[in-house]
Amino acid sequence: MSRTEVVVYANGELLAAAAAARLVTRIVDIQAAKGSASVGLTGGGTGIAVLRELKESSARDAIDWSRLDLYWGDERFVPADSDERNEKQAREALLDHVPLDPKRVYAMAPSDGEFGDDVDAAAAAYAEVLAANASADGTDDGSGVPAFDIMMLGLGGEGHTASVFPDSPAVHDTGHSVVAVRDCPKPPPTRVSLTLPAIRRAREVWLMTAGEAKAEAVSLALSGADETQVPVSGARGYRRTLWLLDRTAAGKLTKVYQTPNA
Ligand code: 6PG
Repeated sequence: MSRTEVVVYANGELLAAAAAARLVTRIVDIQAAKGSASVGLTGGGTGIAVLRELKESSARDAIDWSRLDLYWGDERFVPADSDERNEKQAREALLDHVPLDPKRVYAMAPSDGEFGDDVDAAAAAYAEVLAANASADGTDDGSGVPAFDIMMLGLGGEGHTASVFPDSPAVHDTGHSVVAVRDCPKPPPTRVSLTLPAIRRAREVWLMTAGEAKAEAVSLALSGADETQVPVSGARGYRRTLWLLDRTAAGKLTKVYQTPNA
């Protein structure tokens, strides 16, 4: 049975620092238990801020970086050297500063990569990577998606998560693990994204967001809104869904949650 936890921090900076500290501890515990860990990264300001905080953490090298599998929940379908690319932002924030095993970093294809501008081919290729890894690590439940230990996600004010937007083809697609997204309301318009069923293969989903603009979506999701209208409502880990919020993003929650120094 999945449990939902909500922790509210005084501001976005404290949220990012605390999320990074939680990530170190959680990855170290997972690696101690089973030798390796798999984490899905997210784009967006909060997601990248967490990676920057992790880079600066004095505890960061408690993680065995060589035994960490990294995935992305979504990626902007732009050239590899574009500043809008989630992978490039993640590398600048953290990945290029720690001794990862490059063979265990699974990036989604850029628009100037092996598939050129064929975003459908890029999505299909990532689905194949997931299926191969799910088979190799023995966690395939038939979905062709590995059981990520932690999937980190942000969310938008209208309730999107990854690149799954309200009432979009992606949110209605329950037959694929990875989809191409076109005409995305949040620029850039073309993306590759995990679907909600793929996200739900994660043991833990961490939803991290700050700002008053997210408060309505947070409240709707925690009230059990329909995922086709509020996709982040469907972003649940099958063991744990952890909401890490700042005080303003939690501003419309009626139930009282943990508030360290909030
Ligand atoms: C992306 C992200 C997206 C992001 C949210 C929140 O590629 O844009 O995956 O889902 O996490 O839009 O972004 P902010 O934290 O910047 O508000």
